[in-house]
Amino acid sequence: MWTELMCPCSGNDARIRSALGVEHHDSDVSSRSDYKATWDKLAANSDDAKIYVAGYSDEAELDRMGGYTADLLDRFVRIRKSDVILEIGCGVGRVGKFVARRCQKWIGTDISGNMLKYARRRLETVPNVQLIELGEVGLREIESSSVDVVYCTVVFMHLFEWDRYRYVLEAFRVLRRGGRCFFDNVDITSTHGWKVFMDSYAFEPARRPAHLSMVSSGDELLTYARKAGFKDVRLHRWDDAWVGVTGVRP
Ligand SMILES: C[S@@+](CC[C@H](N)C(=O)[O-])C[C@H]1O[C@@H](n2cnc3c(N)ncnc32)[C@H](O)[C@@H]1O
Repeated sequence: MWTELMCPCSGNDARIRSALGVEHHDSDVSSRSDYKATWDKLAANSDDAKIYVAGYSDEAELDRMGGYTADLLDRFVRIRKSDVILEIGCGVGRVGKFVARRCQKWIGTDISGNMLKYARRRLETVPNVQLIELGEVGLREIESSSVDVVYCTVVFMHLFEWDRYRYVLEAFRVLRRGGRCFFDNVDITSTHGWKVFMDSYAFEPARRPAHLSMVSSGDELLTYARKAGFKDVRLHRWDDAWVGVTGVRP
């Protein structure tokens, strides 16, 4: 079930709870804005990188859920064989491994060089993959009007709202006319989303880890997409846990 597997804060295992920041140590507490340092530290080795991406390090499980997410993306944006597709915050390439085989080219971007190191290893046999380390929040490294689909999954929960919006704006810039976008987060109005909210609520302010999960509402995501200029903006909810927005660049 997507809720249990893709939102590991619902698990009891301490390492899994750590993945979404609901377990922490004092050394984890740093600035939430310093995404690169935070995520390079979390992805210190291959197993940890996978656990902080999805909640488990088992390759078969990672593949099963990667395929599940790629199917969802396909349902929301209708992947075409000719598409150049870019993921924001691709981690170890969990989803990209399955998206790449359905499109012309898959570009995985991430703020963490360590994450990309493990993505490179996992995807070395997939030919149509490019991995790009982002220097800062935004897609400065990507040319304007150069891709057909931009998506970002299981990332917004770790970002400040302003940085979420910056990525929506940047998606608009790098998409060609007619290009599609998809962004998701844990939905505060869902049963699971409220649990995630309350897990994070339990932290003393001074002890909140930098990657602690912060949920979204559908209205928040709709607002970003509309303010950025997307048309045909639609909201999607699934598994009583997630909310996502899609839009088309006019
Ligand atoms: C929970 S993982 C999800 C990875 C992947 N999207 C997936 O679903 O398997 C979050 C990813 O976002 C990346 N990340 C965190 N902050 C970021 C930022 N400001 N910009 C781009 N990527 C970021 C992390 O390095 C990590 O790879």
